[in-house]
Amino acid sequence: MEAQFTLFPIDTEFETPAEQTTSDGVELVSFRDLVPEIDDTGYLTHAIYAYPAKFIPQIVRYAINTYTKEMDWIVDPFAGSGTVGVEAYLCKRNAVLFDLNLLLNHIMPLKVYNGKKPLPEAELFKRLTAMRESNHRFTPDWSNVGYWYAPEILEVLSDYWGFIHNTDDDVSASIIKAALLKASKRFSNTEDRTPKLARSKRKLSAIAELLEENWRAQLDEMVDNLSLKTLRSLNDFVIYRQQHHNDQTPEIQWQGGVDSSYITVPRECDALITSPPYLQAQEYIRSTKMELFWLGHTEEAVRELSRLEIPYRKADRIVETETLDKVREMLTRDDLQKRLDSYFCHTVNALENAMDQLKPNAAACIFVGNPRIDGITVELWRILAEYFTERGWTFEKVYEDRIKTRKLFGARKNKNPDGMKSEFLLILRKKVICQTAAPRRESLLQDVEALAPDPKTSPDSDAS
Ligand SMILES: C[S@@+](CC[C@H](N)C(=O)[O-])C[C@H]1O[C@@H](n2cnc3c(N)ncnc32)[C@H](O)[C@@H]1O
Repeated sequence: MEAQFTLFPIDTEFETPAEQTTSDGVELVSFRDLVPEIDDTGYLTHAIYAYPAKFIPQIVRYAINTYTKEMDWIVDPFAGSGTVGVEAYLCKRNAVLFDLNLLLNHIMPLKVYNGKKPLPEAELFKRLTAMRESNHRFTPDWSNVGYWYAPEILEVLSDYWGFIHNTDDDVSASIIKAALLKASKRFSNTEDRTPKLARSKRKLSAIAELLEENWRAQLDEMVDNLSLKTLRSLNDFVIYRQQHHNDQTPEIQWQGGVDSSYITVPRECDALITSPPYLQAQEYIRSTKMELFWLGHTEEAVRELSRLEIPYRKADRIVETETLDKVREMLTRDDLQKRLDSYFCHTVNALENAMDQLKPNAAACIFVGNPRIDGITVELWRILAEYFTERGWTFEKVYEDRIKTRKLFGARKNKNPDGMKSEFLLILRKKVICQTAAPRRESLLQDVEALAPDPKTSPDSDAS
């Protein structure tokens, strides 16, 4: 199975809750148990792309079933790899998705493939053959590309990507693109199982061994297999739609490459379902830059996006709540104070932008962890609940999903060696009249001050 950096990784064990409600009113649940109809987090088109900290579809499905009805509009300002979009589509809901990461624009056309008929395999294999015979070449705009590849592998990948950038941009090309992205990572010098780029002795010796073997045939086999797997997922998706959707086709809209801290959601929605970025160093753009470069985005564009990423930028206002103020008092390190301020400023801005466009009585379903910063637990759900209830939202409930063991990014030398123990789904309800957010000015790049990631939480050896 492909390595997926999900909020609930495959090797996680779950505790079945003993009692149902904790003393402060948190309802203990297991979303996997609550949604038994989904027994594979990668079902249909969910696993076509790897993405750091993906939602498991069960959480989204539960929120959709409980808080929306057919043909409602759902908004997700931190859409990532579009899990909310796929689940919305399958459940006959419309959705509007935003994310800073440009990958969303490449991911969504495949994940919510709108073709009417299953795709023939022969067509795909014809394209794969054409790719191997093509004379085009594509060199990514990435000054350090040579650090990440053996020269002979880079040459072949540049040829394959040359074909992709010069062929019709149809569904077969998109299928091959998705396969090539995974293969370009697997055949690079970076570790496959860490989200960020990281050269390791293990991977370098694996590549050296590969170069002694018939690596080209192995690369081709991987691209063929992944392409075929994706084609079959799309065909299953088409069949699912034929069986379930009758004449109603949901509409899924997306915009990757946008800063949700400053967006205007173009329509009224019936619910928000989202999972904001991690407070700890996740760096989604840096983790996916290899993919972005191969897809044709420039080093400059990727750098600019990274500077807008939460929480590595300057706060333009200070969010205050009782619990957050207590955390601030305990934090002694200036850089972590800044990160905390940045995190809450821009996460709350983005949530507010989306929540302002919710209809009265709509639910906002916000999925967060309980991260620790310098050993101090930051109860995200409580802070968000405090912030929004002060502004007229009703706190409806919070679900807690407990995780027994967690091996998300391997051993890390920080003050939180066990990782998070629980994840929370906070439900807020919009009152008929809610205080609206102050209009925010557009983000200007010159206002953005990148905050250096904490070296303790950035274990990679990313040289670019
Ligand atoms: C926890 S991930 C969301 C994953 C998503 N739920 C999924 O299933 O794939 C958080 C997302 O926030 C995005 N993000 C970070 N800063 C952002 C910003 N300023 N504007 C919009 N999105 C941002 C990251 O790119 C990342 O995709």
